[in-house]
Amino acid sequence: MTATAVSADPLLAFRAQFPILARSTYLVSNSLGAMPEATRQRLADYAALWDEIGVKAWAKAWWAMPVRVGDGIAPLMGAPAGSVAMIPNVSIAQASILSAIPFTPGRDEIVMSGLDFPSTRYVTEQLGPRFGARVTVVPPAADGLSLDEGRLVEAITDRTALVAISHVLFRSAYVVDVAPVIARAKQVGALVALDAYHSVGVMPVDVTALGCDFLTGGVLKWLCGGPGGSFLYVAPDVSARLAPSFTGWQAHTAPFAFADEMDYAQGAWRWLSGTPPVPALYAAIEGPRIIAEAGLEAIRAKSVRQTARLIALADARGYRVHAPRDDARRGGTVAFDVPHGYEVAQALLARDVVIDYREGAGIRVAPHFYTSDEELERAVAAIDEILATGEWRRFAGRRGTVT
Ligand SMILES: Cc1ncc(COP(=O)(O)O)c(C=O)c1O
Repeated sequence: MTATAVSADPLLAFRAQFPILARSTYLVSNSLGAMPEATRQRLADYAALWDEIGVKAWAKAWWAMPVRVGDGIAPLMGAPAGSVAMIPNVSIAQASILSAIPFTPGRDEIVMSGLDFPSTRYVTEQLGPRFGARVTVVPPAADGLSLDEGRLVEAITDRTALVAISHVLFRSAYVVDVAPVIARAKQVGALVALDAYHSVGVMPVDVTALGCDFLTGGVLKWLCGGPGGSFLYVAPDVSARLAPSFTGWQAHTAPFAFADEMDYAQGAWRWLSGTPPVPALYAAIEGPRIIAEAGLEAIRAKSVRQTARLIALADARGYRVHAPRDDARRGGTVAFDVPHGYEVAQALLARDVVIDYREGAGIRVAPHFYTSDEELERAVAAIDEILATGEWRRFAGRRGTVT
């Protein structure tokens, strides 16, 4: 990066901390964020501790990591220390939430949307009924990509025990206006769980201002923390009065007493279960730290500017855009249909222009705080060339695997 480029966009100074950016045009942080160079050292620290002190590593560092690492992520969502537990994935966090809610006759409904991440739908629809819940799914708006928040509000009734919806939709990056939905849930006495996988790390999120009871997400994508590091925030007052039946010894006040009876710990500890995935927790430290240093206001401002630029580039070529045009309602990803989209995506990957492709959405491009404007221009110019030269034909008939 030149000094001029960095002075025009100070976030570009962070590029040097992510080696893959020097080797590729990396535009896929909506799927897997780039690895910080410092994470290599963190993983080495993990191996060194295991090698050097063996089982004593649990007491020295490992046992408390699900809450310590959660404390590092908590400020990125405005959460207090001790309220965020690291959980292996969001599906497990969702199961944990469901297992804590007393579904009773007359207060047994879960409201979701048809555009939530399928895995959370699978868990809720399979597990919910076993806890005595029934699930109402609010269908997408007519465009198939956004939600009509008014319909969500209407679906919440005195029977609703839990509203479990996405903050930003994974398919279209549509930012759901959750404020009226949360207000309605509070009015009827229902709890709210937000899946914030596509908001925490790419835009400011404040659980206290939002007033949500649970918030889930992961470090895999926008937080550059790798797989296995998902998080579950539970509002302190809610945590104090609920006890997840999906539990384990890490949630016990005295796990090493190996007592016969469960005695739930307080705060984030209460939401843990069994042995934590320690290497994933080491990997989860540096990305959130760097994101906090870069600052979410600045990251969001840049994301809005760069996604708007992508839409303009796609419009200029007549590609159909699958992303909200209103800046305030658009998350970090822009998808657009180009002719022969699957094959073009493969040709881009072969050139180390790293994007992904989804049937129905097209080529998905996700700039992040470390992305230069020039990379966006380069990616779209590469598409032009791949189409103009027929390079995409090399990949015709090879459908199957995609990133
Ligand atoms: C909105 C959303 N929720 C959840 C997940 C992942 O769920 P899990 O952590 O259970 O794999 C994703 C991953 O793509 C997602 O986009």
